[in-house]
Amino acid sequence: MPRSVYVNGSYLPAQYASVHYEDRGYQFADGVYEVILVRQSAIVDKSPHLDRLERSLKELSISMPMGRMSLEAVINETRRRNNVDEGFIYIQVTRGVAPRDHTFPSVPIPSLIISAKRRAWPSIDSKPKGGSAMLARDERWARCDIKSVGLLPNVLAKERAKKSGAVEAIMVRDDGRVTEGGSSNVWIVDDDGVLHTHPLGPEILGGVTRGVIKELAEKAQISVIEEAFDRKALLEAREIFVTSATSFVKPILAIDGAQIGDGVVGPVTSRIFSLYNAHTLAI
Ligand code: PDD
Repeated sequence: MPRSVYVNGSYLPAQYASVHYEDRGYQFADGVYEVILVRQSAIVDKSPHLDRLERSLKELSISMPMGRMSLEAVINETRRRNNVDEGFIYIQVTRGVAPRDHTFPSVPIPSLIISAKRRAWPSIDSKPKGGSAMLARDERWARCDIKSVGLLPNVLAKERAKKSGAVEAIMVRDDGRVTEGGSSNVWIVDDDGVLHTHPLGPEILGGVTRGVIKELAEKAQISVIEEAFDRKALLEAREIFVTSATSFVKPILAIDGAQIGDGVVGPVTSRIFSLYNAHTLAI
């Protein structure tokens, strides 16, 4: 449990860190969030995460609860108070507290919560461990590019995946297109060693890890094609991996019981894992 959670201006012991029953995040999922990796006490890829937070808020007409510099100071202080050198930061901003009414309050005061938790990340020489995934119907809304706290379809799909022993639910639209994971972006490697991932747009969250990996891959002469692929291409891929701030680069070795490629972590996935791991360690 975190020792200290920032809640609307105060650092509170975790057991007292609670929100009002009429917070709109609680009643309407009227809010957004970010999850940011911490390594060696550094906030990894802080700028693109805070850019995305600002964008999500703008898309929902929620104002930033404080200026960017102040927000960075609170993030750092929350990290420091919880002694998190390896772990992650969780930031949540909602439209705030108001008597329950679907329409916006006339003078909204956004709520801001920031917590920091310890978690061990892979060491520099560690190898990625694979897992299996499950296919799930993509039943989400039409603005998946907004990092909204409204995650019910993701929650249900990931729970079904967990029950079946899978590490991720991979979302497939009714037209057969693969969009992303329940909490990650999905990548496939084709027979030519080229990476494919869904293009940015309202159907997926523009993952910060996705953006970093695209750059790292291209620098390493690994081609990246941002084009939608279907279920068949997914199941016939040489390699599959999913990415996010918390799943890092996670190889997927089987889907719904069917083996992917050779059923072991492939060379392109291993390379991307190492490049990303080094990036998080600022090596
Ligand atoms: N989720 N797609 C979805 C639906 C996600 O929820 C996430 C991240 C990603 C990857 O984004 P990023 O690379 O910026 O972490 C893609 C976070 C980790 C979560 O909900 O816990």
